[in-house]
Amino acid sequence: MPIDQDEFRNALSRFASGVTVVTTKDAAGKFHGITVSAFSSVSLDPPLILICIERATVSHYAFEESGLFVVNFLSDRQLELSERFASPVEDKFDGVDFSFGEFGIPILLGSLVNLECRIRNIGDGGDHTIFIADVESATINDGDPLLYFRSDYRQMAE
Ligand SMILES: Cc1cc2nc3c(=O)[nH]c(=O)nc-3n(C[C@H](O)[C@H](O)[C@H](O)COP(=O)(O)O)c2cc1C
Repeated sequence: MPIDQDEFRNALSRFASGVTVVTTKDAAGKFHGITVSAFSSVSLDPPLILICIERATVSHYAFEESGLFVVNFLSDRQLELSERFASPVEDKFDGVDFSFGEFGIPILLGSLVNLECRIRNIGDGGDHTIFIADVESATINDGDPLLYFRSDYRQMAE
């Protein structure tokens, strides 16, 4: 018998994670960004990572259209960005500090890390899609991460 959905959520909420905002753009050049905690490193050689994007999100199609995305690891000073990119805001990038990387996709300034990624593999992940991608470049900054645990934001203990 499959696990009860509430129990499943409850169990998974006890897995602590960082928080990312993944940005991309669609074929018409419109920018998209989603708060994503379903991020994982996959391989060192070649350098691969994965993200899981819910099929029902507005931005889902944009990942397939561009084949490219940027993973921005949020710092503990970017909680508002996490909230913003997890909400149905008309223009999520309005008032947000960003620059452009090699792919012409927004790179959120003030993040701990920005990974520029090219999609290699698209997999079935139930109500999510698993995008496995090659990491083509990384920008690395100092700071502490924004954390997520038991459905709430946390900060590193000093
Ligand atoms: C902390 C946090 C983590 C999230 N992680 C994911 C995730 O890994 N994958 C996903 O598809 N949505 C995730 N979401 C939900 C999306 O950010 C949310 O559905 C977003 O509004 C989708 O944007 P869109 O519909 O404009 O494309 C997360 C939300 C929060 C607050």
